[in-house]
Amino acid sequence: MTIPDQQALKIAVAKAAVAEVREGTILGVGTGSTVDCFIDELARAGVRLAAAVSSSRRTSTRLESLGVRVIGLEALKEPMDLYIDGADEIDARLCMIKGGGGALTQEKIVASAARRFICIVDASKRVEILGRFPLPCEVIASAITPVSWAIRALGGEPVLRSGVLTDNGHPILDVRGLQIEDPEAMERTLNQIPGIVTNGIFALRRADLALVASPAGVVRLQHN
Ligand code: 5RP
Repeated sequence: MTIPDQQALKIAVAKAAVAEVREGTILGVGTGSTVDCFIDELARAGVRLAAAVSSSRRTSTRLESLGVRVIGLEALKEPMDLYIDGADEIDARLCMIKGGGGALTQEKIVASAARRFICIVDASKRVEILGRFPLPCEVIASAITPVSWAIRALGGEPVLRSGVLTDNGHPILDVRGLQIEDPEAMERTLNQIPGIVTNGIFALRRADLALVASPAGVVRLQHN
């Protein structure tokens, strides 16, 4: 797929996601190039939000530049109706790998404050088994060595993402070589390793709906 083709798919799925947003609500907004398209399409469609809760500085900057008020989670009185975000991989049960853009911790937190999670992707992100995309893990810098030992014991090969710190100031290990047959179990296991702040498996809180763009159109996938 050429890059212009992929960009067209991101815009198509972004437009489909805009149709899911109710005017006047507080929306949780993820991070990444697909979400950037979504923010642009939201503005183009003239949908007015009460406010947005953002998952990254990148997203906050884009939202604010288009006139959307960005608030913190502490300003919420109840869970948001909806969180919209992209993914690096998504399986048939709507479990995902996320964090390619480095915003996984805030994404997991903001997603946890919403009743519904809609994942927006192009069809290249669909997989049978998660793990071809290196699994991002945000780690405390001083813990990189023991965290790497623990990851190798699980069969993965951690690679430090060069020159990158998250919005929280932490490095990221991208873990290659994991076949994630049981995403919930692997997410739980990684959650137990001291020094991992967040792992990029989104299975314990998977998406409720995926909008998937291909040249044939945008399809809706629900849990199976
Ligand atoms: C950022 C993410 C993104 O949702 C993921 O990397 C997909 O990004 P893109 O839409 O650019 O392919 O998890 O942390």
